[in-house]
Amino acid sequence: MLARLREWGVEYVFGYPGDLLSGRQIGHPLHPAAVLVPAGTLLGATALDLTRDPGLRPAARRLLGIGLLSAAPAAIAGWSDWLDTEGAERRVGLVHAASNAVGIASYATSWWQRRRGGSGLAAGLTGAAALGLGGWLGGHLAYALGVGVDTTAFQHGPTEWTDVLAASEVTTALRQVDVGAVSLLLTRVDGRLVAIDNRCTHRGAPLADGERDGDCVVCPWHASRFDLRSGEAVQGPASRPQSVYEVREVDGRVEVRRAEVRALRANPVGPRPARAFAGRH
Ligand code: FES
Repeated sequence: MLARLREWGVEYVFGYPGDLLSGRQIGHPLHPAAVLVPAGTLLGATALDLTRDPGLRPAARRLLGIGLLSAAPAAIAGWSDWLDTEGAERRVGLVHAASNAVGIASYATSWWQRRRGGSGLAAGLTGAAALGLGGWLGGHLAYALGVGVDTTAFQHGPTEWTDVLAASEVTTALRQVDVGAVSLLLTRVDGRLVAIDNRCTHRGAPLADGERDGDCVVCPWHASRFDLRSGEAVQGPASRPQSVYEVREVDGRVEVRRAEVRALRANPVGPRPARAFAGRH
């Protein structure tokens, strides 16, 4: 949908809507960070209520007000993420949103009951339960279904120079080249060979199927724009950059190797050295 908005020429001061809401500017999805304020303040209000201390009621009401006001931007960022999902992710996302909506509505009821002299405790507890379920589903979306996760996080290209094809085969067109299990995008910028990961960090689209726009490639699925030289995401919804590979030409052949060391992104459940298991038997 956001790609369609772009086709219609919808552009905002800060870029396209998906760009502002995706979290590209902070390098990670915005929604998980944005929910911290409403979740923390609303659940904090319930915690104060449970003390049954009348002196804490004004503080609980203020927390409720802050939580209810801050829920809107968090929800809008989540809605933006949800638009780029499909299948099971989309269904779970819908239930996640519905559960949170019930939570917010319950807390709003609690706030209103307080204004009328009631305790608002039951409505607050209902809101806490609904937000808890919504939070659990949000965790499921991220940790089980991978929504918001860099789709190349565990992808490893060659660390040694690896021959891939003849240099004459690489032009300014977008060219996909498979190197082992990794797919790369090769092209030329100002005559220079460049190579980045072909799998979009956002939802995994093959960038070679996208369009070239100057020194950038535009993702075919949701129109994120990546700089072909640096891999930087210059327009969302992608919030993570593409991995960049070093490229050289040797005797008319193109060789590539991974440019960055991804020690911190090694797959934690991948094969381990034998000594890692020593003493466990
Ligand atoms: S897969 Fe969504 S922008 Fe590339």
